[in-house]
Amino acid sequence: MSIATAIAHPNIALCKYWGKRDRALNLPATPSLSLTLAPFATRTTVNWGAEADEAWLNGQLLEGKEARRIFMCLDLLDPWRPRCVVTSENNFPTAAGLASSSSGFAALVLAADAASGRGRPVEELAVFARRGSGSATRSLFGGWVEWPMGARADGADSHGVPIAGADHWDVRMLVAVLAPGPKETSSTDGMLHTQRTSPYFPVWTECAPNDVDEARVAVKACDLEALGRIVERSAMRMHASMLAADPPLCYWRAGTLAAVEAVRRLRASGVGAWYTMDAGPNVKVLCAAADAERVRVALAAVAERVELLEPGGPARVVSS
Ligand code: PMV
Repeated sequence: MSIATAIAHPNIALCKYWGKRDRALNLPATPSLSLTLAPFATRTTVNWGAEADEAWLNGQLLEGKEARRIFMCLDLLDPWRPRCVVTSENNFPTAAGLASSSSGFAALVLAADAASGRGRPVEELAVFARRGSGSATRSLFGGWVEWPMGARADGADSHGVPIAGADHWDVRMLVAVLAPGPKETSSTDGMLHTQRTSPYFPVWTECAPNDVDEARVAVKACDLEALGRIVERSAMRMHASMLAADPPLCYWRAGTLAAVEAVRRLRASGVGAWYTMDAGPNVKVLCAAADAERVRVALAAVAERVELLEPGGPARVVSS
């Protein structure tokens, strides 16, 4: 029996991935750029050589679609793999609305590879992670990460690429956790619906590459004002494409706009803070480390809970 454990941090996209140019290979219709965030992390152990495939998340046995997604990803890594037990723990609440699938699939492929003794290059693992969950391809890497669309038909060149490490720039990301509403549309269902029915989708994909190009320059120059503007623009354009779908897709709740307003008020009072939202109601706010406390206080007035995150390192094997 061979066993290994890996840890990965989730990431939040500053320029969003929304849409698939190839569904089977899970290739994106847009490039994206993200920040990997600590201290939130997924810790996953893969134990090859079990009697039956089993996957556990936070002490609960996974069944149906969730379990199939995990074993499908492991089948891609090795079509002749032995059966295994996967045990995964998130040190953060799922209700935080942070893409736990990003850290989850990054930790999974890394642990599975280490447990098999293969030690593939991380770029190769990032391609496998992409097949499990698009955003997971960025969580193999620490800090500031770009995910290009790639040009190859097999998708081998579409994976996370680090552009600056976690210690490049001392920023913070705060998450305003809002009251959970009815069960949301999954990101895959949401993006396919947008792609199929929104007349704004082509415009969204047309604008996205420029957002990433400009964001890369702003990240390298540590220009928070320039980056913040792009972050808000990318999020709002992505949501605009969903709002124009048929029927419309809206992940926002009343609290979402209250948090956006709080960020605008902060900015008007001279605090540099910029918002972004994903496939859920929560609002994530980017700011300089020195402003994090003021942002936290402002968000606490409109949110149920506020989480404070900072740039995190790459996914890593912790035992094998
Ligand atoms: O990785 P997925 O399939 O959960 O999709 C992520 C989609 C967004 O979070 C909305 C955007 C992104 O780039 O992470």
